[in-house]
Amino acid sequence: MTIDLEKANEIVARFKDVEGALLECLHALQHSFGYVPAETLDIMADGFNISRAEVHGVISYYHDFKTSPTGRTVVRVCQAEACQSMGSRHLSEHVQKKLGINMGETGADGNYSLEAVYCFGNCALSPNIEIDGKLHARVGPDKFDEIINAGEKL
Ligand code: FES
Repeated sequence: MTIDLEKANEIVARFKDVEGALLECLHALQHSFGYVPAETLDIMADGFNISRAEVHGVISYYHDFKTSPTGRTVVRVCQAEACQSMGSRHLSEHVQKKLGINMGETGADGNYSLEAVYCFGNCALSPNIEIDGKLHARVGPDKFDEIINAGEKL
């Protein structure tokens, strides 16, 4: 997939002369493309006068940045302690099998991305799962199937 390089150049040009604005630039790129495309690393390196490796280092340090397109539906499963004690590990296995992808992956058809999250702040109602930004509490495999089947994306 090719990206709109003109748009990427415009975004980098907006930030490149502002001191310490690399993070803002990365956020702007991700906002615009849905992720930080590999093609933009050289543009940032040139613009900010740093090495490509330095840009890459910043991207990998912050977990918020995605380096590949995300699926049309993003499923995030809590892996933190309270949810784990209520079965989120079992739920995660089920979700991976159901969607046919592992944590951190996007399906080849682009329908789903699956992400691990470490606490939604809703521990009292564990295990928690978020689908397209909507939090679902006390989710077991059956409830997950119901929610996903209602979305009819499988
Ligand atoms: S541990 Fe899962 S929401 Fe807090």
